Amino acid sequence: MMRLLEEIADAVENAVKSSERALWDSDEGMGADGTKTHGIDKIAENAALAVLERKGNPVNVVSEECGFLDFGSERTLIMDPIDGTYNAIRSMPFYSVSLAIAEISTADASLALVRNLAVGDEFRAEKGKGAYRNGKRMRARKFSPDDSVFSVMLGRRAHDEAYRIARIPKRVRSMGSAALEIAAVASGSLDLYYYKAKDGGLRIVDIAGSALILREAGGEVYNADLLPLDMDFDVRKRESVIAVGDPAVLEVLE
Ligand code: IPD
Ligand code: CA
Repeated sequence: MMRLLEEIADAVENAVKSSERALWDSDEGMGADGTKTHGIDKIAENAALAVLERKGNPVNVVSEECGFLDFGSERTLIMDPIDGTYNAIRSMPFYSVSLAIAEISTADASLALVRNLAVGDEFRAEKGKGAYRNGKRMRARKFSPDDSVFSVMLGRRAHDEAYRIARIPKRVRSMGSAALEIAAVASGSLDLYYYKAKDGGLRIVDIAGSALILREAGGEVYNADLLPLDMDFDVRKRESVIAVGDPAVLEVLE
């Protein structure tokens, strides 16, 4: 099954890299999640779905643009064909394809692959078998307040609480691809990723792959009530997200 995720990521990467950049920003209407679909989202999703179709649709799909496709399998591919669409459109090399396999919800995810399509950095995990960055085992970082880096979603949609959190660490970032930011917590590049908006939150497709990767690296992903985040296959549902490498981070958030 990891081979299938690899083939999908390769197909998405090839389709994006061989497409005309001028098409990336085009308006393709509304996705199943209720947000605007851009050309690059469509190019990426079509490439992924074509791989599945060629293989006889061995798994169901929940994806940002097409929603839930029931192919009668016990397993479901949770996919964000492009996470960080605005970074891609603005030529910032921090956008990814995010893939996970689960049965009922993100809590039972068994496989994950998140790949930065601009630079090729790749994160993988298999439940119970650890997390890997470019083939090398990785573990989340032990928290040290004097050497802390958080990534916090900021901007006019951010909740006031996000601005309070951004003042806590020594250094702060706001990078624009939740999947890659949570994977960066898993690899020890970041200590925390925080997303709390005035309206809404992140969708299952944004977090499914990287949540398993972070858990396998020894960290945890929480919802707004500080319970382990679990999302079902409804692409319209949204949640606030707090991802930490070390639970000790939570103590400084109060
Ligand atoms: C977006 C990214 C971004 C987050 C946005 C998401 P998309 O996903 O994850 O980091 O701040 O809320 O919508 O739209 O590029 O798949
Ligand atoms: Ca997306």
